[in-house]
Amino acid sequence: MPQPLVEITRREVFSAAHRLHDPRLSDEENRRLYGMCNTEHGHNYAFEVTVRGGVSASGMVMDLNQLMLILREEIVSHVDHKHLNRDVAFLREVIPTAENVAVAFWNRIEARLRAFEPCQLHRVRVYESRENFVDYHGQSA
Ligand code: NI
Repeated sequence: MPQPLVEITRREVFSAAHRLHDPRLSDEENRRLYGMCNTEHGHNYAFEVTVRGGVSASGMVMDLNQLMLILREEIVSHVDHKHLNRDVAFLREVIPTAENVAVAFWNRIEARLRAFEPCQLHRVRVYESRENFVDYHGQSA
């Protein structure tokens, strides 16, 4: 019998500082492009990781407690109360917009979640504020 396909999501929060600044541009161009976000500031971030899969005989897609532990180990412990532009090795090469943060989080956990196949990482959603959030589904344009 086919298993019902279900998406499960774990949400985590962290606080971090950042600044949107492209070193290839002049200060004036950076101010024009990023506005207030060119100034150093902080966010109370939240992010949600969704895993998609069949409901197995255990009644679960994946143990949400294990997902929580992976997110805390691979992401939260590296970004909470840090400066995203300089303190986080896996963000060092990118401008820490919510988009780039979502992609970096995906890349950080995808390999760990492969151990839980056949369920699959489906979406990473990053909230920079309650109103602004971005979604990444692991695809390139
Ligand atoms: Ni910001």
